[in-house]
Order: sequence, then structure tokens, then C-alpha cells
Amino acid sequence: SGYWVVVPAAGVGKRMGADRPKQYLPLLGRPLLSLTLSNILTWPGLSGIVVALSADDVHFPHLPEAKHPLVHPITGGAERADSVLAALNFLATHASEDTPVLVHDAARPCVALDDISALLSEDVSPIALLAQPASDTVKLSGVEQGCAVVEKTLDRNRIWLAQTPQRAPLGLLHSCLRRGLEQHAAITDESSALELFGHSPQLVPGRRDNIKVTHPADIVLAETILRLRYA
Ligand code: CTP
Ligand code: MG
Repeated sequence: SGYWVVVPAAGVGKRMGADRPKQYLPLLGRPLLSLTLSNILTWPGLSGIVVALSADDVHFPHLPEAKHPLVHPITGGAERADSVLAALNFLATHASEDTPVLVHDAARPCVALDDISALLSEDVSPIALLAQPASDTVKLSGVEQGCAVVEKTLDRNRIWLAQTPQRAPLGLLHSCLRRGLEQHAAITDESSALELFGHSPQLVPGRRDNIKVTHPADIVLAETILRLRYA
């Protein structure tokens, strides 16, 4: 009756521009990936974590969580979706097709337990994701004379910003992701792979502070969020 968590952690952190992949930068003195894994290890009902790492990762074995019996490192791929597929290939030999899988970015250390409870609630669809209603007005762009211009304004009341975790049954997610990648579709999250094959994941309102650490300023922001939460 448990669920598995897949953590894509094989990125290079180009936008962060640091001397190492962002998942190994210190936050409050601890590597980002260590914070994310130790957070996940507190989630009730967890069966295990599959962490997708870069083939040339040298940092992971130094994390305290590396030797935890529920943590299973595997080698990821060129894009986030390839890393998640590699994790699901591993999981398919360890869990049944109906096992719930939550995919959670290594770069989101601040997700709160009440968001996890909401996503795992029996009242929520087994195919669902945390997301945040947009607060800014969103423009769809076109190009005129080499410049980005507004093509149209989207209806803000219908815009949500996708977060993670995103959940789906193992067998369904595995086949949608594999088939989507075979078709060379643009797959930037699990929902987009499921949508390709006619599924409509439920949007579960998540907290605003479940930020994805992407740019240098996000380090300070994440540290502040974590410090306030655990103070
Ligand atoms: N990721 C992954 N495999 C990849 C690319 C990304 O597992 N080939 C992971 C990252 O490690 C991160 C998550 O997917 O935890 C979300 O991706 P993103 O925030 O874009 O991280 P990076 O790709 O590392 O950053 P950037 O796009 O700035 O290079
Ligand atoms: Mg990226």
C-alpha cells in the first residue's frame, strides 16, 4: 500500500552557474540534495526513493542519505524526462504496475508535509500534481521584426504553475513517458507525458514556497523558507 518517490538529480544546473551542479550546493550548511532526500524520508508510507544521478557524479556517495536502505541511486539521462524514465525502468523490476509513484525534483527542498498529505489524499485522483494558481498575467509571445511581442493574453484564472511532486501509477507513467520520448515530444514534467495520451491530471493547490532552486537568488530564498519553517 506504499508509494515510491523518483528524484531526478542528474542536471548540471546551468542557470545557477556554480562550480558544481546545484543539487550539491550548500543550503544552511547542508547539500541541497541531502535536504531534499532527508525531507522525503519523513513522508509517511514511503516504500523507497530512486535517485537519478549524472553518469559522472562524484558527490552523491558523500551524502549522509547515500547509504540509507530506502535510497536507490541509478544513472539518469540527457534531459529530465530521460532521467525519470531511467528511474522508472529500475522501478519496474522492483514494484507492481499499480504502485503510486511521486516524481519530485531534487531542486525542491522546501516542499511541506501538508502538500504531500494533500497529494496523497484519498479524495484526490491517482493522477495528480501540485501546482500554484498564477499571480502574474501571462502573455503568449510571437516575434515581429526580431522582437518578442505579445500575441495574446491568457486567461489568468485558468493558469497554474506546475510544481512537484507529480503522481501517477507506475505502469501508466512508465508507458506514457517511454512512448512520449519515442515520439520526441517536448516533455518537461510528468503531467505533459500523461496529457499526450489523453489523461487529465488533477491540479492540487500547493504552497507558494515550494520553489525550484534555479537561479543564485533562489539559494537565499530557500534558506529563508527552511529557516522559518524549522525555527
Ligand atoms: N534533471 C535530471 N536530469 C537531467 C536534467 C535535469 O535529473 N538531464 C533534474 C535536475 O537535477 C533537477 C530537476 O531535474 O533536480 C529539475 O531540472 P532543472 O531545475 O532544470 O535543473 P538543471 O537542469 O540542473 O538546471 P538548468 O536547466 O539550469 O541546467
Ligand atoms: Mg534543466
